[in-house]
Amino acid sequence: MKPFIDLAAQGQVVKSEILGAFSDIIDRAAFIGGDYVERCEQALSDYVGRRCLVVSSGTDALVLALMALGLKPGQAVFVPSFTFAASAEAVALLGGVPFFVDVGTDFNLSISALKASYTQAKKQGIYCVGVISVDLFGLPANHDEIQQFASDNGLWVINDAAQSFGAIYHGQSVLKQGVISATSFFPAKPLGCWGDGGAVFVDDEDLYHHISSLRCHGQGDVRYTYPYVGINARMDAMQCAVILSKLKIFDQELRRRESIAKRYDEALRDIVATPVIPQGKSSVYAQYTLVLEPEIRDQVKKHLAEKDIPTVVYYPIPIHLQPAYQKFPAGDMSQTVKFCQSVLSLPMHPYLSETDQDQIIYQFKHIYQTESVL
Ligand SMILES: Cc1ncc(COP(=O)(O)O)c(C=O)c1O
Repeated sequence: MKPFIDLAAQGQVVKSEILGAFSDIIDRAAFIGGDYVERCEQALSDYVGRRCLVVSSGTDALVLALMALGLKPGQAVFVPSFTFAASAEAVALLGGVPFFVDVGTDFNLSISALKASYTQAKKQGIYCVGVISVDLFGLPANHDEIQQFASDNGLWVINDAAQSFGAIYHGQSVLKQGVISATSFFPAKPLGCWGDGGAVFVDDEDLYHHISSLRCHGQGDVRYTYPYVGINARMDAMQCAVILSKLKIFDQELRRRESIAKRYDEALRDIVATPVIPQGKSSVYAQYTLVLEPEIRDQVKKHLAEKDIPTVVYYPIPIHLQPAYQKFPAGDMSQTVKFCQSVLSLPMHPYLSETDQDQIIYQFKHIYQTESVL
């Protein structure tokens, strides 16, 4: 079976330049910090239009953001349950309380569910300090509404943009949303490195310096002085070299993702629910996710696998039902639970050939036309 995301094909495009950079780093023995890290932060900052600090992963980006905002044990943060575990994990790890909120039909935090959860939390005497919004599958959340509600109620917003680097929200990078935004460079992400990596983006000068210190053991301006208890969450020079090279072809890759999504849309929209991209937003299609009838989703997946077409269910079990998270509060989760039973993501990466796209479309339609699983 071909890979769900063909990282090896992309690797061939950037390999020689990156190997050159690796060789340079080895010759200079500048593995942590230094020129590549500084250039990577500058390039990412220019791309997004906001100050950037590269860090060791998307998870650490969230942990650092929460530490810098002063999350205290027992304080609650609203977070979707239809997401990757890290969005809630970062809160729980610091002793905070993830308060799970349902999503809307766009897979992202629902503003009405957020309002209902806030009322529920108040009634239960839970002290809430913030919201973590997630741009799931690469589509920006409804940031204006979320930010407005948060501001009205004295909450901060962190944007977990782990899946949406490159997406546009009302003419600007979606990484401009939230008091801090966090992204991931996990290899399979739209902009991925060759190991673990991530970044935070922030405007506020104090938060910038605080996170800069926290990612390096809480060190102060003078070496071996520690005003804060921090962690080691640096991104190394080699991963920065990978990002610097991949950033050069990133926009071109995004256009390819868009054109594949368009072909899928046109071929499949009459038989199944395809992604909807609202006005004022673009998606980077970290995943191309369909919503099927729950009764046939697993059969469709099996049928496609038999035809050598890999698909993935993101996500089969919501976070609020996971053993580690069941103890935390949750609002009504009906949409989240429904999605876990009905979503299916098709192969999506910039190097997916037209022949492979056609085969995926053909096999998908074939299932419906022959009614072999219906
Ligand atoms: C929504 C979301 N948040 C956070 C993360 C964590 O990123 P990382 O894997 O780089 O720690 C991921 C990555 O998988 C993610 O998809």
